[in-house]
Order: sequence, then C-alpha cells, then structure tokens
Amino acid sequence: MTHRLSRREPSASVPLLAAEGVHAGYPGGPDVLDCVSVELRRGTRVALLGANGSGKTTLLRCLSGAHRPRTGDVLVDGVALTHRSGPLRAHRQRVQLVLQDPDDQLFSADVRQDVSFGPVNLGLPDDEVRERVASALSALGLAHVADRAVHQLSYGQRKRVAVAGAVAMQPEVLLLDEPTAGLDPRGVAAMLAALERLERSGTTVVMATHDVDLAWSWADEVAVVLDRVVHQDVLVKVLTDEALLEAAGLAVPWPVALLRRLGREVDVAFPPRTATDVAALLG
Ligand SMILES: Nc1ncnc2c1ncn2[C@@H]1O[C@H](COP(=O)(O)OP(=O)(O)OP(=O)(O)O)[C@@H](O)[C@H]1O
Ligand SMILES: [Mg+2]
Repeated sequence: MTHRLSRREPSASVPLLAAEGVHAGYPGGPDVLDCVSVELRRGTRVALLGANGSGKTTLLRCLSGAHRPRTGDVLVDGVALTHRSGPLRAHRQRVQLVLQDPDDQLFSADVRQDVSFGPVNLGLPDDEVRERVASALSALGLAHVADRAVHQLSYGQRKRVAVAGAVAMQPEVLLLDEPTAGLDPRGVAAMLAALERLERSGTTVVMATHDVDLAWSWADEVAVVLDRVVHQDVLVKVLTDEALLEAAGLAVPWPVALLRRLGREVDVAFPPRTATDVAALLG
C-alpha cells in the first residue's frame, strides 16, 4: 500500500469521489438519474438505499466509470473523469465496483485465478500478486476454497470471491452493490469485518443495500435514490425521515421504530446503533 503514501493528499474539503449534476439512462430510455450529485469523502461510509429499479446500480456504475453519464461529471479529487481508455483504466485502479450478481463478475476457472486477475493485469510482480491474493482470500474467509472451481461454489461463496477480487486490487474506493444480499449471518459478519480491515488500510467503502438495519448500524451517511434524484445526508437525518423512507419503499431502522413507539426521539449526536446501545438507553 506504500504507493498511496506518495500520492498528493488533496484538500479535505474536496471529496475523494463525487457525481455532479449527473443525468444517466440507457439507450432509447428516459433518464434514470436526473441531475444527481453525491459526495463520497475519504473514510466516510456511505450506504446507498432505494427501491428496486430506483437507480442504485446505475449510480454506482457511473461512479466506477463503467457507465457514462449523458451529462454531468464524475469527479475524483475534484478532477472530472474523461471517458477515454487511459483515464478510465487509471480510474478503475482507484475505484473498484463489485457487481450485484457475482456471476456477472467472475469468469475464471478457479477462485485463486479469478482473484489474481486484477493484480496480474496491473503488472505486479508474482510475489506481490501471491501476497495480495492470499490476503484477500483470507480476509473473505475463502482460503479453504482457493483451488476450487468457481462454478462449484455456493452463491454466498461466489459473492465473497467477487469482493475478494476487488479487495486484491487495494482500491482507494470500493463500491459494493448489495454485498450482503444472499449471505448468511456469519457471512455478513465476516464481510463487514473484512471491509473494516480494508478501511483500516485506507480504503473508503460505499455500499448499496436494501437492508436499512445494516445501513443504520454500519454507515456514517446515507444516500437515498428516489424519483431519479439522490438525497444524501448524515445517517440519523436520513434514516429518521419517515416520509422519505416510505416514499422510497424503505422501512425505518428497528432502533428508530422502537424508540418512537416508546415515545422517544433518537439522539442525533449519539444514535443507538446496536441492540446493546438500545438496551443501555432503555435500561
Ligand atoms: N442495461 C439496461 N438497459 C436498459 N435499462 C436498464 C438497464 N439496466 C437498468 N435499467 C433500468 O434502469 C433503472 C434503474 O435500474 P438499476 O439497476 O440502476 O436499479 P437498482 O436501484 O439498482 O435496482 P435493484 O434494487 O433492483 O438492484 C430501471 O428502471 C431499470 O429497468
Ligand atoms: Mg441494483
């Protein structure tokens, strides 16, 4: 990770990654995103929420450079991305997107080969490739299936292999499209622990999810996609806004719902994020 230390540290007020006035859609169709702006700050966890078909994946694909906005910009350290092969290649080294469906992402015969693909493509020395792959596999609890055929793994295992492939690239930003969907509780905990380790080494993590309780316990900020625009703010502000959540087809996180039933408001400065926090508050 030493390569990052030599990179110019931009001003704290400039987001690491942003969308500014982005209009995006698909050929022959209307805009899915209509003048959308989001800001992803270094080290800030952002959960992206929204109903099916609202545009979460489209926004993540724009941010990753995989989908070109009709108008508007994707900015990295304040500099607009140009959709030419050189800048896009550089962008993808810094910003990795893990797709919602692992089968859209995995294509190699075995797990180790798939996770090695990105680092090998970067032209890294063999030793470093081996080290990165071993560490990514172990972080995602996949060391024991490293030599298995990808198609023989379960869905949850394939999902973790897809994340391991991105982790091995040691990106500055990891965009995860519903990383916990389809995982069992232990798999979710392992995924979150792996992401936390990654954050400690300097990666900023953003995830799209339908799980408001996960967003409540995990995120610093929330961005909700509704009616082609994005509402981004600090966690408590967004996830206590029942009108916004209902319009977006989302539930209120359980600690918020429980406290409201008990006639109590959520403390914005110290929101109870876990069952232990809620118990302490009520005890
Ligand atoms: N390749 C495509 N071609 C045409 N339309 C598309 C394509 N991909 C997505 N769309 C449309 O764009 C809109 C937004 O889709 P998107 O996949 O971004 O939503 P999403 O919020 O990620 O949904 P989900 O929660 O189901 O994953 C939908 O109306 C969808 O039908
Ligand atoms: Mg999606």
